[in-house]
Amino acid sequence: MDVYEAVESRRSVRAFTDRPVSPETLERVLTAATRAPSGSNIQPWNTYVVTGAPLAELKKRATERVSTGQAWDERQFEMYPTSLESPYRERRSAFGRERYAALGIAREDWEARQRAAIANWNCFGAPAALFCYVHRDLGLPQWSDVGMYLQTVMLLLRAEGLHSCPQMAWSQVRRTVADLVRPPAELILFCGVSIGFADETVGYARTGRASIHETVTFIDG
Ligand SMILES: Cc1cc2nc3c(=O)[nH]c(=O)nc-3n(C[C@H](O)[C@H](O)[C@H](O)COP(=O)(O)O)c2cc1C
Repeated sequence: MDVYEAVESRRSVRAFTDRPVSPETLERVLTAATRAPSGSNIQPWNTYVVTGAPLAELKKRATERVSTGQAWDERQFEMYPTSLESPYRERRSAFGRERYAALGIAREDWEARQRAAIANWNCFGAPAALFCYVHRDLGLPQWSDVGMYLQTVMLLLRAEGLHSCPQMAWSQVRRTVADLVRPPAELILFCGVSIGFADETVGYARTGRASIHETVTFIDG
């Protein structure tokens, strides 16, 4: 698979089959992903891969916790600014509209939206997940390095025939994750990534993108 194909075919998959992902494949992908760039090559990613019985236990604890309405863990970073400016506000609303329309959920049906959201903590059925942490003393440029690393992982997963879904939702139950993976206290959970084979019987709405005329400026002599 060439890079264009990997980029084109990557999408956030929210329905996986239970077909297991081999540890060798995960190791191959994560070894190749170490080539991701980072400022001064500090490689600020800290990744925990969870599969099998520990992942089943994590999904159980997290979904139980969320479905019984327990409070989120206190935040270590804000997922979004409290007031999103244009054009980001409109893009976010469009995403929500398209996602719930694809699921046949009315926007005002809060309960149905909650039920759909709970699937996050079941990893959308995926048999593997990774949890990516960043040291609390590192700053915005290093968080960006982690983003490049995660995209590298997700593209390599495509080359292996696998799909993924990055999920900041896991940061909302970071203590439940920490109880299982036991990271050092100075690490902040940025996000989880569910990994597996897409359930191709489940339909999905492909997300749109702003045109490059909106987001790219070419300056030519
Ligand atoms: C850092 C990050 C966090 C995300 N968190 C979630 C999440 O918690 N749950 C979810 O279903 N999707 C999550 N997504 C997926 C985005 O909604 C998705 O990338 C976006 O809508 C574009 O769609 P696509 O990935 O299918 O191209 C996240 C994506 C990123 C990059």
